[in-house]
Amino acid sequence: MHHDDLHNHTTPAPRRGASFFQEPHVAGFTHRAFTKAMGYDETDMARPLIGICNTYSELNNCNAHLRELGEAVKRGVWQAGGFPLEFPTISLGEIYLNPSSMLWRNLAAMDTEEMIRGQPLDGVVLLVNCDKTTPAALMGACSADVPTIALSGGPALNGHFRGEILGACTDCRRMTAEYTAGTLSAETYRLAEDNVFRSRGHCMVMGTASTMNSLLEALGIGLPGTGATPAVDSRRIRLAEETGRAIVDLARRGLRPSQILTRQAFENAITLLCAVGGSTNAVVHLPAIAGRLDIDLPLELFDAISRRTPLIANLRPSGSYQMEDLYYAGGIPAILRELLPLLHGDALTVTGRTLAENVAAAEVQDRGIIRSLDDPFQPEGGLSILRGNLAPDGAVIKHAAATPALMQHRGRAVVFKGMDDLRARLNAPDLDVTPDSVLVLQNVGPVGGPGMPEVGNLPIPQKLLQQGVRDMVRISDGRMSGTAYGTIVLHVAPESAVGGPLALVQDGDEIELDVPKRRLYLHVDDAELARRRAAWQPPAPAYRRGYGQLYLQQVNQAPQGVDFDFLRGCDPVTVTLQPKF
Ligand code: FES
Repeated sequence: MHHDDLHNHTTPAPRRGASFFQEPHVAGFTHRAFTKAMGYDETDMARPLIGICNTYSELNNCNAHLRELGEAVKRGVWQAGGFPLEFPTISLGEIYLNPSSMLWRNLAAMDTEEMIRGQPLDGVVLLVNCDKTTPAALMGACSADVPTIALSGGPALNGHFRGEILGACTDCRRMTAEYTAGTLSAETYRLAEDNVFRSRGHCMVMGTASTMNSLLEALGIGLPGTGATPAVDSRRIRLAEETGRAIVDLARRGLRPSQILTRQAFENAITLLCAVGGSTNAVVHLPAIAGRLDIDLPLELFDAISRRTPLIANLRPSGSYQMEDLYYAGGIPAILRELLPLLHGDALTVTGRTLAENVAAAEVQDRGIIRSLDDPFQPEGGLSILRGNLAPDGAVIKHAAATPALMQHRGRAVVFKGMDDLRARLNAPDLDVTPDSVLVLQNVGPVGGPGMPEVGNLPIPQKLLQQGVRDMVRISDGRMSGTAYGTIVLHVAPESAVGGPLALVQDGDEIELDVPKRRLYLHVDDAELARRRAAWQPPAPAYRRGYGQLYLQQVNQAPQGVDFDFLRGCDPVTVTLQPKF
């Protein structure tokens, strides 16, 4: 459909809610009678039915304020003539879940998809925030393909401590390293904990939650302001009301995610990702979301866009500022406006306007935080895709947050066979490791983790920390938190647990990292690798029943988004509902 057709789309879309409430026999009778039991009448039921899909949970600190936001969305829905009903879906919090929230991202996506599919909704607002809640909800909503707007809960305010700005969890890691090295006292370490996370909201550096929620604006599936407006700012409440009004309009026009989330929209998102030095986790989540709409986002696309996109935002962990500062500097709309020459500005968004129209009035308020394309912080974006005999299907490095001197490095491997091995030996005084060593962590990929945990930023061994070493080349098939930093090669594919070459690395092997040449190479000859492969045994499966077993059987590799193969694609819900009686 051409954009003009969408703009001029005045014929109301057929409504699922109408067929549900107006069915002339016992089904309609029942649907109305049972809805009346909640105190609603036929005036309400004549309106478009808007589901507010809320990932509120007190076991997810980042999403614990979403009930208030849901109430504001409802006000907006009522104002615009809709009928809002809120429902819960699985909430995935980074802090409480073990072994890795990523293990359940696809389960949450299935929950979201099937609840949208099974209920008579004309439109959906996805209330999300913490890292996995945003991609999970979007993946599900794309596969159901009902008109959708995503609204995040927003970033937390800056931490303040002894005149310093603190950010979670970049400083949690930095201070832990200093404490372990003996350069930070136990008292200071404990006091910092009181001050780092001082409000509701998600992690306040450009970590995964900030990244994914900012990308909602570039994708056109969230309203302008979604990315950076602080969680506790009244303007986020007003944004929620505005979202409520907008979803009613979108539902009336029947504009679906598949019409918004086009290849161009995903390219816009990758451009923003590179311009802000966003999280490597987006390199997993975006292909998973796009896959739900049968769009392939090969790793090379990320590399190509990163090479042509200057880094124009100065945000931790690659820069100096945090989301609250970014908001005062103009927020994501101001960044997108600077990026317009590199974007598909005519991409349609849920406002009914194009991306370029959405950001036309945005202004940069602080050039220390948002630069122009002509005067960037770095000429290229922050991500590189590596290939070589150690990662035939690719690996990722966020070189914007790495040490320049290690961008071309050759060193001897110190191999850990998994997390238990790492914990047991990393800080042993007799560990045979030097600052030039390359730390290799096996069996932390999608299958091996299981769930591809965020452990790729494995700590520097204590004895090197005490010598003043703060960065080394580290390689794994796992992920890392978007708040982490260092010379860290991630998402090595295929992963070691399914027999990828990473499984064959042994202590003392020479490994070469060459970021300018996008190369990751294991200097072991093919005959020796073949010998090792013949002797290799896969690790025992982590689960033998239940969801864990389904996960191990179905999960695909990092370049495909760590989704389940059977969930790829879109199966739009239809207007007609099956009569129940
Ligand atoms: Fe939720 Fe960091 S723990 S965003």
